[in-house]
Amino acid sequence: MNNGPLIFFGIFLSLALSWLGLVVANNVDADFGGLGPHMDEATGMTVPAQMPGLARQGLRVYQDLGCATCHTQQVRREGFGADVERGWGSRQSVARDYIQQSRVMIGSLRIGPDLMNVGERIPLPEWHHQHLYDPQVNTPGSIMPSHAFLYEIRKVKGTPSPNRVPVRGERAPPDGYEVVSSYRSQALVAYMLSLKTPYDLPEAGSSDE
Ligand code: HEC
Repeated sequence: MNNGPLIFFGIFLSLALSWLGLVVANNVDADFGGLGPHMDEATGMTVPAQMPGLARQGLRVYQDLGCATCHTQQVRREGFGADVERGWGSRQSVARDYIQQSRVMIGSLRIGPDLMNVGERIPLPEWHHQHLYDPQVNTPGSIMPSHAFLYEIRKVKGTPSPNRVPVRGERAPPDGYEVVSSYRSQALVAYMLSLKTPYDLPEAGSSDE
């Protein structure tokens, strides 16, 4: 008996069905790729808002420095970890939260806290600069590495620099010197402050549910 055509047809059918299921049914335009901002009827604003230009550059710095090896940016839904109880966000993160980011730094290892809402939790630029320069200043015992190479230690000439970072502790500069932030660290901090999802999205469920 010659089963050749039947076998050929069977293989063809299973490949065709998986192609239909994987490629056509998940059509990028109709699915996540087609996600647009959401219009918040109460405020008349669209969310998520666009990222400021400096923050966009900071995203590149975040990527270059490998911050995503220790930090995630995704709040898991209740019942899938203690993210909400830990204060990492008031609701789960959904695909639409990321549409304004040129690259999504979702991460996979949680050696440090999740940063999805760090701009809301810690809205102070000075805190972030101090923490990047020397994590021990604000978080004694922290295992986060110092990123002091993003800062310059300069002799104070006349008036102190407007970009001066007040630092105490072991890494404090000697008298007459000051720690000054660089463009990269300013961009990185702008990116940190831009990370927040204070709005609700229909698919994410309300924060008080
Ligand atoms: C080796 C792992 C590691 C790397 C790499 C790392 N971090 Fe951290 N980070 C931590 C840990 C652990 C903490 C918690 C202790 C602390 O606050 O210092 C933390 C805390 C933080 C916090 C405070 C978050 C909060 O909710 O209190 C921020 C902001 C932060 N990191 C940003 C960064 C940025 C930006 C980079 C890249 C330049 C980076 N981290 C790289 C481990 C890391």
